[in-house]
This record gives sequence, C-alpha cells and structure tokens, in this order.
Amino acid sequence: MESFFQTTGHFLQRVPDLQHFFLHLIASPGSRTRSTVALPVMPSDAFVAKLNEQIGHEFAAHQQYVAIAVHYDAETLPQLAHFFYRQALEERDHAMMMVQYLLDADQPAVVPGVAAPQVEFGDVVSPVGLALGQEKRVSEQINGLAALARQEGDYSSEQFMQWFIKEQIEEVATMSDLLRVVERSQDRPMDIEDYLAREQLGEARDDPTAPHPAGAGG
Ligand SMILES: [Fe+2]
Ligand SMILES: [Fe+2]
Repeated sequence: MESFFQTTGHFLQRVPDLQHFFLHLIASPGSRTRSTVALPVMPSDAFVAKLNEQIGHEFAAHQQYVAIAVHYDAETLPQLAHFFYRQALEERDHAMMMVQYLLDADQPAVVPGVAAPQVEFGDVVSPVGLALGQEKRVSEQINGLAALARQEGDYSSEQFMQWFIKEQIEEVATMSDLLRVVERSQDRPMDIEDYLAREQLGEARDDPTAPHPAGAGG
C-alpha cells in the first residue's frame, strides 16, 4: 500500500510536467499536420474559415427554397410549395448545425448576408432544375470541406462532415426524383400535386444521428 501511495505521489508530482509537455505539442507550429503524437482537438483555422463560408451557402439555399415555395404557392400548387417550404427549413437547420459546431469548439461563427435568390420562373420545371443544380453544388462544397479537414489533420471536423455527406446524397436523389416527376407531368401540374401528396417525397424522418442545430429545443 505504501509503495502504491509513493508511486501515485511521484505521478502527481509529474502532472505539471506532463501538462506542459502536451501544451507544448499543441502550441508548436506544424504540430497540427505533422505530429503523430498529439493532435489538437480544435478545428483548423482553414476549416473554420471554409465552414463559415458554407454557413452562407446554406442560408442562401434556404432563401432560394423559400422563394421557390412562394412561387408555387402563388401558382396554387400547394404540394410543391409545401415540399420547398420544408426543404428551406432543412437548409436553415444545416446552417445552424454548423453554427453550433463552431460555438461548441469556441470558434468564431459569422452569420453572413446572402445574395438575392431567383424569384421568377418561366414554367413548373425550372425551379426544380435550379434546386437540383444547387444541391449538386453543395455536395461538392461539403466533400471539399471533408477533404480540407482531412488534409489539415483535423479529424473532429472530418467526422462532423460525415453526416452532411450522407444528407447530400439523399437530397440530390430526392431532387432528381422530383425533377423526373415534374418533367414527365409538366403539362398536367395536378398530376405532380397528386404524386407529392401520395408519395411524401423528401418527408422528414427522425434522425438521431443528426447534429444539433443552434437554438433548437432539446
Ligand atoms: Fe444543405
Ligand atoms: Fe440541401
């Protein structure tokens, strides 16, 4: 027992040394990418800057989907309007999940202004075409963020991006399905409405793996 306390005492005496050793590793330049001993848990500066840009892209997607929803609502196509109102809320959630990640990591989260969305459309198909193009672009941005995190040795951020990669695959698939439906029935918009009422395309389901959006209850 005595020797146990002795050993523990020696160990405790050494704690400040150990702390200093790890702080030194974290603070030394180049340790983020090259050290194999101790990697920081903080997101890299480059990732934080890129994620802040992405928050802007997600809010821009939100605004664009609200604009599309309002356009369909004005055309008395309530199912299409409902689809895009809901999609808009998902984009807002994506932005707020990224904000929460930065808040949790004690990093600056900057809520940006966004460019005005397109509000006029020639036919029933073009808003969905625009939306699919947007989702494909966001997929590239999300993959780029994951690649940047890996390149920076920032494994927490790389893991954070995994949910968004999966989400983008689903969103591109859903929007591609909708584009096929609206193209097929563009002269009979009520067929599109019936399809959406029946199939519940893109309907939100509980996802316990989803990151927490800042400001959301619970
Ligand atoms: Fe998104
Ligand atoms: Fe999306």
